Amino acid sequence: MPRRGALCVGTLLVLLQLAFVPSPLAGCLLNPCVEITPNTTFRCTGLNISGVPEGVPNTTQNLDLSFSNLKSLGSNYFASVPELQLLDLSRCHLHSIEDNSFMDLPRLSTLILTANSLQHLGKAAFHGLTSLKKLVLVETNRTSLSELPIGHLHTLQELNLGHNSITSLKLPEYFANMTSLRHLSFFSNKITSISRGDLDALRGGNRLNLTLVLSLNNIKSIEPGALAGIRLAELALRSTFENFSVMQESLQGLAGLQVSRLVLGEFSDAERLEGFERGLLSGLCQVQMEEFVLFCLKDFEHDTDTLFDCISNVSTIRLVDLGLEKISEVPPLSKVKHLECKKCDFEEVPAWKLSLFKELRVLRITKNRSLKDFKQKFEGLSKLEVMDFSENSLNIRTCCSPKFQNCPNLKHLNLSFNSYIRLTGDFTSVKNLLYLDLQHTTLFGPGSYPVFLSLQKLIYLDISHTKTEVKSQCTFCGLNSLQVLKMAGNSFGDNKLENNFKNLTHLHTLDISSCKLEQVDPSTFDALSELKELNISNNKLLTFDPGVYQPLQALRVLDFSRNQLTVLLESAREVLPHSLVLLDISQNLFDCSCVYLDFLKWVKEEQELLQNEELMLCHMPSYVANVSLLSFDLSSCHVSMGTVVLSMFLLSSALLLLFLIYRYYFQLYYSLVLLSGCKHSAERGETYDAFVIHSSKDQEWVIKELVEPLEGGTPPFHLCLYFRDFLPGVPVVTNIIEEGFLSSRNVIAVISTDFLESKWCSFEFDIAQSWQLVEGKAGIIMVVLEGVNKALLRQRLGLSRYLRRNTYLEWKDKEISKHIFWRQLTGVLLEGKNWHQEEVKLM
Ligand SMILES: *[C@@H]1O[C@H](CO)[C@@H](O)[C@H](O)[C@H]1NC(C)=O
Ligand SMILES: *[C@@H]1O[C@H](CO)[C@@H](O)[C@H](O)[C@H]1NC(C)=O
Ligand SMILES: *[C@@H]1O[C@H](CO)[C@@H](O)[C@H](O)[C@H]1NC(C)=O
Ligand SMILES: *[C@@H]1O[C@H](CO)[C@@H](O)[C@H](O)[C@H]1NC(C)=O
Ligand SMILES: *[C@@H]1O[C@H](CO)[C@@H](O)[C@H](O)[C@H]1NC(C)=O
Ligand SMILES: *[C@@H]1O[C@H](CO)[C@@H](O)[C@H](O)[C@H]1NC(C)=O
Ligand SMILES: *[C@@H]1O[C@H](CO)[C@@H](O)[C@H](O)[C@H]1NC(C)=O
Ligand SMILES: *[C@@H]1O[C@H](CO)[C@@H](O)[C@H](O)[C@H]1NC(C)=O
Ligand SMILES: *[C@@H]1O[C@H](CO)[C@@H](O)[C@H](O)[C@H]1NC(C)=O
Ligand SMILES: *[C@@H]1O[C@H](CO)[C@@H](O)[C@H](O)[C@H]1NC(C)=O
Ligand SMILES: *[C@@H]1O[C@H](CO)[C@@H](O)[C@H](O)[C@H]1NC(C)=O
Ligand SMILES: *[C@@H]1O[C@H](CO)[C@@H](O)[C@H](O)[C@H]1NC(C)=O
Repeated sequence: MPRRGALCVGTLLVLLQLAFVPSPLAGCLLNPCVEITPNTTFRCTGLNISGVPEGVPNTTQNLDLSFSNLKSLGSNYFASVPELQLLDLSRCHLHSIEDNSFMDLPRLSTLILTANSLQHLGKAAFHGLTSLKKLVLVETNRTSLSELPIGHLHTLQELNLGHNSITSLKLPEYFANMTSLRHLSFFSNKITSISRGDLDALRGGNRLNLTLVLSLNNIKSIEPGALAGIRLAELALRSTFENFSVMQESLQGLAGLQVSRLVLGEFSDAERLEGFERGLLSGLCQVQMEEFVLFCLKDFEHDTDTLFDCISNVSTIRLVDLGLEKISEVPPLSKVKHLECKKCDFEEVPAWKLSLFKELRVLRITKNRSLKDFKQKFEGLSKLEVMDFSENSLNIRTCCSPKFQNCPNLKHLNLSFNSYIRLTGDFTSVKNLLYLDLQHTTLFGPGSYPVFLSLQKLIYLDISHTKTEVKSQCTFCGLNSLQVLKMAGNSFGDNKLENNFKNLTHLHTLDISSCKLEQVDPSTFDALSELKELNISNNKLLTFDPGVYQPLQALRVLDFSRNQLTVLLESAREVLPHSLVLLDISQNLFDCSCVYLDFLKWVKEEQELLQNEELMLCHMPSYVANVSLLSFDLSSCHVSMGTVVLSMFLLSSALLLLFLIYRYYFQLYYSLVLLSGCKHSAERGETYDAFVIHSSKDQEWVIKELVEPLEGGTPPFHLCLYFRDFLPGVPVVTNIIEEGFLSSRNVIAVISTDFLESKWCSFEFDIAQSWQLVEGKAGIIMVVLEGVNKALLRQRLGLSRYLRRNTYLEWKDKEISKHIFWRQLTGVLLEGKNWHQEEVKLM
C-alpha cells in the first residue's frame, strides 16, 4: 500500500508539471537564448554562464551576451561562432580578457565591452580581429592609452573610450597606422591638458576626416602649437573647461588647427562656465574652420560685441541656446553663408543687423516662444535663399513683400508654428519663392482672397492647420506650378469641395485631411490628372463617387480613412487607377451585410494594396459590429443566403398547404384516413348493405332492433357490425375503413346520448360524412333513439341532416312507429342493392 501511494504522488507531480508549466516557458528554460532573426541574430542576456551558450548555432552573426556573468574570457572563447560580425559583451562582469580570446572571429566588425571593469587585458587580447571597425571600451576602467593593445587593428574606424579615467591625450605611435579611424572619443575622461606632441600620431598626411571628442574633460591648458598642422573633421569641446578664463586661454592653443566643424559650449545639464570674458573666442582667429557651433552659454554677455570677431569668415555658424538678446555688432564683409540662431532670446527679428551679412544664403531663427515682433525689414540680401522663422510666436501684420526688400533669390520661406500672419497678397519682392510653409500659424487672407496670385513659381505650399476657411473658388489661383498643397485641418465653405483646384494642373500631392468635408463636387478634381497622392482622410464623406475620382488617373496613394463610407461599390473600384499602390479606407463605417459580399471578397483579395487593414471594421449590421473585415466569415453569407431562400420556400409552401387544407379539407382528411387504411380498397366488391356505427352501450339495441329484423327478414340484408365482422388483429381504423365503409353501401348511425358523447363515434361519423362527400356514395341513415338532446343533436349532425341522400329516422318504442320505421329503413336499404342469385330464388 505505501508503494502504491508513493507511485500515485509521483505520477500526480508529473501530471501537475505537465499541466501547469506552459510550454513556451518550458522552451525558454531549455534554451535561454532568443532568436531575433533566424540562424543569425541571438540575444542571450542575463545568464550565469561560461562560454557561448549551447543553443547558439555556428551560423550566428550577431550575438548579444550583455548582462551575463562571464567574469573572464579565455583563448578561443568564441570558436563555436566563427561567423560573428557583432558581439555585445556589455556589463558582463568581465575583469580579464586573456590572449587570443577573439582569435576565431575574423569577420567581427563591432565589439562592445561597455561597463566591464577590465583589470587584466592580455597583450594579444584582440588578436585575430582582422575586420574590426568599431571598438567600444566605454566605462572599462582604462587609465591610459599606452597599455591598450590595439595597435594592430588597422581596420578600426571608431574607437570609443568614453567614461574612463584616461588622464593623458598622448596618442601612442600606433595611431599613425590606424588610417581608417574616423571617430575617436574621450568623452568624460580625466584629461587635463593637451601638449605639443600629444597628437603627433595624427599628423600623417592622408588623414582628413577624424572626429575627436574631448567633451566633459577638465582641460586647464592647451599648449600653443599642440594642434598646429592637425586636420580634423570635427573637434568637440563641450563642457571641457572649468571657467571662461581657462576657456579663453585654452582656445589660444588651437592656433594652426584645421577643422571642418568646431563645437564649443556646454551641455544644458552640465553648465558651469561663469565670469564671461570679452574676446572669449579670440583664439579662433588662428583656426581654419568651415562650421562653428556654440551651445548653451547662459552667462554669455555683451551679445555679439566680440562674438563674430574671429568667426566672420566661417561659412556656417550655429548659435544654440545662448541667451543672445540682440545682434549688437556685425563684422563688415563677413563671409557667413549659413547663420542659425536657435532658442536665442530675441524679442524682435533683428532684420537690419542681419542684413549686414551680405553673403547670407541660409538664415534660421527658430524655437523661441518669446519672439513676437517682425517690424524691421530685411534688405539687399541678394544671395539669401532659405529663411526659416519657424516655432516662434511671430505676429506679422503685413506679409510678405514688405519684409523682404530686394531678396530676389529667396526660395524657401518657413513661417510655420507662429502666432498670426496677415497675407496681403503682395509677394512682388519674393516672387521667385518655391517653398512656402505657413502651417500651424493662424492666417488671415487665404480662402477669402486670391492671395497667392503672384506666386507663379511656387511648387510647395503648406497651410495646414491655419484656421483657413476656403470660401473663394479662386483661393489657389495663380499657383500654376504648384506640386504640393497641404491644407489639412482647415475648412471649406458649406463643407463642400467645389472646383477649388481648377488650375493646379501640376499638383502631385494634395492633403485635404481633417477639413470637415461632407461633399465633393463632381468636377473638383478634373484638372488634377498628374496627382499622385491624395489624402482626404478624417472627413465626413459618405460616398466614394466614381465620377469625382475618375480624373485622377496618375494616383499612387489614396488615403480615404476615417470617413463615413459604408462600402466601395463595384463602380467605384473600377475607377481606381492601375498606378495605385496604396489605398487606405480604414476606420470607415463599413456595412458588412451580405448584399455587399463582392466588396467583402475584394477586400480579402486586395490586401497588398490596402493599408491599415486591421482597422477596417464592420459597423453594420450590429451583430458583426467591430468585426474586422479581414476576419469576416464570407461563408456565413452563403449560408444565410441559403437560409433566406429556404425559409422563403418553406413559408410559401406552408401558406400553400394551409390554403389547400382550407380548400380541400374533407378530401385531405379522407385521404389521410385512407392512407392509414387499406391500399386495395378499390379491388373489393361490396359485401354489406350497411355498416352500423353505434356506441358500444347500444349494442344490445342494435342486435335486437336492427340485426335480427333486418338479417332475418325478407329480403335479408347483410349488416357490418364491428363486434362481429371486424377482422381480429387488424388496426381498428383499418377495419372501420376497409370492413366498414369500403365494403358497405350505406352507413347506419345509431344516434343515442352515448353516441353523441363518445369521441370514437364522432370520429366514425365524421369519416362517414367526408367519405360520403368525396365518394358520392349513398347516404347515411341516421337512426335517432329516444331521449336524445335535440339541441346537441342538431349541433353534432349539422348539415348532414338536411342532405338529400341522407335519411333521418327517429326510433320510437311503439309498435306503430316501429312499423313505419321498418318500412322506411328497408326502403332506403333496398335502393341499389345487388341481388345474389340465391336471394332472387328465395324471393
Ligand atoms: C537555419 O538553419 C537550419 C539548420 O542549419 C536550416 O535548416 C534552416 O533553413 C536555416 N534557416 C534560415 C532561415 O536560414
Ligand atoms: C553562478 O554560477 C556559479 C557556479 O557556476 C555559482 O557559484 C554562482 O552562485 C552563480 N551566481 C548566480 C547569481 O546565480
Ligand atoms: C556548423 O555546424 C555544422 C554542424 O552543426 C557543420 O556541418 C558545419 O560545417 C559547421 N560550419 C562551420 C562554418 O563550422
Ligand atoms: C580600476 O582598476 C584599478 C586598478 O587598475 C582598481 O584598483 C580599481 O578598483 C578599478 N575600478 C573599478 C571600478 O573596478
Ligand atoms: C605601422 O605599420 C607598419 C607596416 O605595417 C609597421 O612596419 C610599423 O611598425 C607600424 N607602426 C606601429 C607604430 O605599429
Ligand atoms: C568625412 O566623414 C563624413 C561623415 O562622417 C563624410 O560625409 C565625408 O564625406 C567624409 N569626408 C572625407 C573627405 O572623407
Ligand atoms: C578659473 O580656473 C582656474 C583653474 O582652476 C583658476 O586658477 C582661476 O582662478 C579660475 N578663474 C576664475 C575667474 O574663476
Ligand atoms: C577674413 O578673410 C579676409 C580676406 O579673405 C581677411 O582679410 C580677414 O582677416 C579674415 N578675417 C578673419 C577673422 O579671419
Ligand atoms: C526665448 O526668449 C525669452 C526671452 O526673450 C527667454 O526667456 C526664453 O528662455 C527663450 N527661449 C525659449 C526656448 O523660449
Ligand atoms: C518648416 O519648419 C518646420 C518646423 O521646424 C519643419 O517641420 C518643416 O519641415 C519646415 N518646412 C519646410 C518646407 O522645410
Ligand atoms: C491657368 O493656367 C494657365 C497656364 O497654365 C494660365 O494661362 C491661366 O491664366 C490660368 N488661369 C487662372 C485662372 O489662373
Ligand atoms: C493623411 O493625413 C493624416 C493626418 O491628417 C495622417 O495621419 C496620415 O498619415 C496621412 N496619410 C498619408 C498616406 O500620408
